[in-house]
Amino acid sequence: MPDIRFGVIGLRRGQSFVRVCRAVGGATVTALYDIDAARVAAAAAEIGARAFTDYEDFLAAEIDAVIIASPLPFHARQAITALAAGKHVLSEVTAADNLDDARALVAAARASRALYMLAENYRYLDEVELLKRLHDAGRFGELYFGEGEYLHDCRGLWFNDDGSLTWRGQGKLAVYCTHSLGPLLYITGERVASVGALAVPGGKFDPRVSNPTMHLLQMTTTGGIALRVRVDHVSPRPHQMAYYALQGTQGSYEAWRGHGDTSKVWLADEHEPSLFHAPAQWHPLDDQASRHIPERLAAPPEARLGGHGTSEYWLLRDFLAAARGERSVPIDVFVGLDYTLPGICAIESALAGGAPIAVPDPREW
Ligand SMILES: NC(=O)c1ccc[n+]([C@@H]2O[C@H](COP(=O)([O-])OP(=O)(O)OC[C@H]3O[C@@H](n4cnc5c(N)ncnc54)[C@H](O)[C@@H]3O)[C@@H](O)[C@H]2O)c1
Repeated sequence: MPDIRFGVIGLRRGQSFVRVCRAVGGATVTALYDIDAARVAAAAAEIGARAFTDYEDFLAAEIDAVIIASPLPFHARQAITALAAGKHVLSEVTAADNLDDARALVAAARASRALYMLAENYRYLDEVELLKRLHDAGRFGELYFGEGEYLHDCRGLWFNDDGSLTWRGQGKLAVYCTHSLGPLLYITGERVASVGALAVPGGKFDPRVSNPTMHLLQMTTTGGIALRVRVDHVSPRPHQMAYYALQGTQGSYEAWRGHGDTSKVWLADEHEPSLFHAPAQWHPLDDQASRHIPERLAAPPEARLGGHGTSEYWLLRDFLAAARGERSVPIDVFVGLDYTLPGICAIESALAGGAPIAVPDPREW
């Protein structure tokens, strides 16, 4: 079968996907698009691809699929145009930053014969896959609480070299909740029914940057699971971009926090009982890995070229399999918006003092 020919948009994060395309097999990057002419020319020369600074020309090139890794506010509109041109789309997170674009994206995906997938790579982390398989095997019993945190001091990305604000500095990151929420929804198999959010005001570190310092989301899923997510791209502190926790009737899990800590579980079917006078103890999550995710442990070294463990490698393999017609898209436009829409609704909730907002089901649009 011929390789899927990719065009990559946005040559910073996009470079990770250029590397993973080479590692994964069955994919060739033939075209690159960026508004920075020097950057795209240099990147294209390195891999022997064509360089474009005009989006229409890029979409007319000989490509089957695009990977959208431009700044967040462009994702939805670039995806809509690519789908209309019949190109499969693998879009960086989030899928959209407002409801109008989200609706237009659903319409474009429905109208196109091409595929849409959200590149939510944290849902492909080995640890998340292990938790999914533990949950599916019933090891946590009935899950009723989940937690996620994305804590990443990105203040160093607020300004361009000339002192102007970048899109991040301008506060266009929206509520970037998919890395925390996506894995929780993947594990539970549910979507969010309502979200209430609090925003900590901005301007604490630089008066020119007024967007909120952090958002705290409290959500209820359609099946009644309580979820709590903290999204913080600002606070000065050690990074922890993949903190998760789960609580069920038969088990509990907490991810590593740092400072030598490792991820841990307590599972009723394997460990000591949880008693008031003899409390349960944590056990290493790693003990479960060889039984539940053997193929992940055997991933080749080049699977790590994406920058976030092996997540981009497994994600791209799924996208390629879907493009070849071997499977359905795992994070299609509806699932992608399930991960994205609570963040959009969270902004509205925070402006309303934290009042819960019903999160639309994009399948009903
Ligand atoms: N999933 C992940 O783990 C992960 C990691 C990093 C970044 N991201 C996401 O990837 C996207 C890009 O992030 P980044 O850090 O590379 O951003 P960036 O601002 O550092 O770089 C964006 C690149 O896109 C180019 N660009 C700007 N406007 C464009 C447009 N309209 N069309 C095409 N190219 C354009 C810029 O010239 C630059 O080369 C963001 O949405 C970010 O949130 C995701």
